[in-house]
Amino acid sequence: MAVYKISDDISLYRYGKPYDTEAVVVRELEKAGDEPLKYLQEIEGKGVNLTYTMDRDDIIFGLGENMGGINKRGREYISFCTDDYEHTEGKRSLYGAHTFFIVDGRDTFGVFIDYPGKFKIDAGFTHRDILEIEIPTGDVDIYIIEGEDKNQIVKNFRELVGRSYIPPKWGFGYQQCRWSYLNAGEVEQVVDAMRERGIPCDTVYLDIDYMVDFKDFTVDEKKFPKFPQFVERMRERGIRLIPIIDAGVKIEAGYDVYDEGEEKGYFCTTNEGDTFVGAVWPGRCAFPDFLNPDTRRWWGNLYTRLTDVGIEGFWNDMNEPALFYTPDHLEEVIEEVKSSQGENLDIYSFFKFKDRVVELSNREEDYKKFWHRDKDGRRINHHEVHNLYGYNMTRAASEGFARNRSEERTLLFSRASSIGAHRYGGIWTGDNKSWWSHILLNIQQMPGLSMCGFLYSGGDTGGFGDHADAELVTRWTQFSIFTPLLRNHAGGTRPQEPYSFDDDSAEYMKGAIELRYAMIPYLYSEFMKAVREDRGYMMPLAFEYDDSRSRGVEDQLLCGESLMLTPVYTQNARGRYIYLPEDMLCWRGRDPRNREIHRLKKGEHYLNIAIDEVPFFIRRDRMMVMGKPLNYVEEEVIRELNVVVNLESKAVYDFYDDDGKTTNEADYSLMRFTVRRKGEEVTAKVEQVAGETQVVVVNFEIYAGEDQVVKRKVYL
Ligand code: GLC
Repeated sequence: MAVYKISDDISLYRYGKPYDTEAVVVRELEKAGDEPLKYLQEIEGKGVNLTYTMDRDDIIFGLGENMGGINKRGREYISFCTDDYEHTEGKRSLYGAHTFFIVDGRDTFGVFIDYPGKFKIDAGFTHRDILEIEIPTGDVDIYIIEGEDKNQIVKNFRELVGRSYIPPKWGFGYQQCRWSYLNAGEVEQVVDAMRERGIPCDTVYLDIDYMVDFKDFTVDEKKFPKFPQFVERMRERGIRLIPIIDAGVKIEAGYDVYDEGEEKGYFCTTNEGDTFVGAVWPGRCAFPDFLNPDTRRWWGNLYTRLTDVGIEGFWNDMNEPALFYTPDHLEEVIEEVKSSQGENLDIYSFFKFKDRVVELSNREEDYKKFWHRDKDGRRINHHEVHNLYGYNMTRAASEGFARNRSEERTLLFSRASSIGAHRYGGIWTGDNKSWWSHILLNIQQMPGLSMCGFLYSGGDTGGFGDHADAELVTRWTQFSIFTPLLRNHAGGTRPQEPYSFDDDSAEYMKGAIELRYAMIPYLYSEFMKAVREDRGYMMPLAFEYDDSRSRGVEDQLLCGESLMLTPVYTQNARGRYIYLPEDMLCWRGRDPRNREIHRLKKGEHYLNIAIDEVPFFIRRDRMMVMGKPLNYVEEEVIRELNVVVNLESKAVYDFYDDDGKTTNEADYSLMRFTVRRKGEEVTAKVEQVAGETQVVVVNFEIYAGEDQVVKRKVYL
């Protein structure tokens, strides 16, 4: 084991010869002496095995989108990007390999395991007090990250792995998806319905059926005639269309993407050097070798086929990569099925038979059948670097945008990912279900994602699989209005758009979505500060309040520096229990105009929350900055801000804004709002700290003391 000192707070312990995942952006390494491994203990065994003995109340935070609560303790996690559409409680892997966590308690430290293959983190599953990391091979980079508190540890980690992706500001608008809106007419119906009802909306998605036979970078002219004009017409209505791009490329002679990939050797190969074949939506596909920089360059340029006709955003999918089957294994199974004909299948043989068929997809054996050629020209088996596939697909797209539309931001998010991918795009949390438990799952996934740098993220609001009812979609929307990616998505279920149920529910969702648009000034400011300062966007309470009650909270979140969220996630609820770690201001309402604000004392409460109400809390000496609802983000420039302040003595807020479109980072506006109380006197000040603003007036609504409400208007 070799030890490197990255900074005072970060040490790298290198075992064997790890694969260079490029997750870490610090490339110069300074060798340290023979320091022993901090916190963790090595134990004998195959590969690298590290353990840590936890105190009874130690908490494990992080691990990205993994299931298992905000505190990840008590479970086992397998780091292996997995296409799994059943996010049931026992699942040990989802689509992301997010291998950074913080142990918090007797010792507080961060661990980042930089390893691209499959490995296990036993977070107190086998033995409640033992954390164990098991790397099957002897080659891994273990980073131990310290800091004065948890927020600092997150910041140190994020500086190590590089700055998070920035979407266009319209990516903070409401987004509507379905598998699938089958043609231009169906897309237009969605837009008509949203606009007629005045429900704000910025994007509509094109799922796989927009393509010709599921062939990437094609558009079916029969379903979408005159596509460029259609894109343009939608843009005029404030709608961007976001097509899906899948990892598998249909094998079909004459399909130019396949032909070129084949000719230039851009696809993954078998051990014998032939193009590897696996099946996804179009049937047999080839898989671009995203580890090869030439492939990435080629692939990244293919997106221009769509950006050239006005497309400004994409979602990359099936990039674990998902494999429905490989033809050779399918043949084996078919033979077995045939040979079972007429057999008496008993308890042993029947289940074996059934499993053979059920387990055709995403088999580890199939992941061992293909090879990459990486940046160093090295041939490497896919299974060893499995978790890098989605990451490098996102990277290919992002590098393409940096070359081909360098001035403008492009919306981009992926399903599979690993640490490093956060620099290139966001992620969504994949195929959840319209289950109440999955609202809670979504709430609990967000802080882990924030810690790992996946700031632009969110779940399929309303649930992807299974049929949703109006109440569930309403409650879920009321939570998702705080997540950077706010997208309603369902596949093959009853319609789930906000207007698909009854008129009342449509009004409730409209109110929540209007509130979202009104909150964008704050949400965007907090998002951008989280990117620029390597901070979290949605975080556990314990990162700001260290009392033992706050440390155990699993269903409330901090959102940016000012807000605490208490979403409703149970059916037929009329409210919920909440915990306030300090006196806070409760904002509740059905939309930005119809709301009430009152003070609530530190402690436990039961809060009535009617079905049309969204509550959130403003922390002490913090403020919430609001604009107004719009039909779509770019409809108007916000010139008037309304700032609600929870004032005890002095509150300062740095309000970040920029044009939200260009990649030019030099042009931004930073305003500082300072609100103070001295005795009975309350003052509000606005300073332009950097850049210029188009805001002309800031209205302060200041809640000072028990029941004093002071209004101040500041003209600029
Ligand atoms: C996958 C995606 C889902 C998409 C579907 C069809 O299941 O996760 O979001 O709608 O494929 O493309």
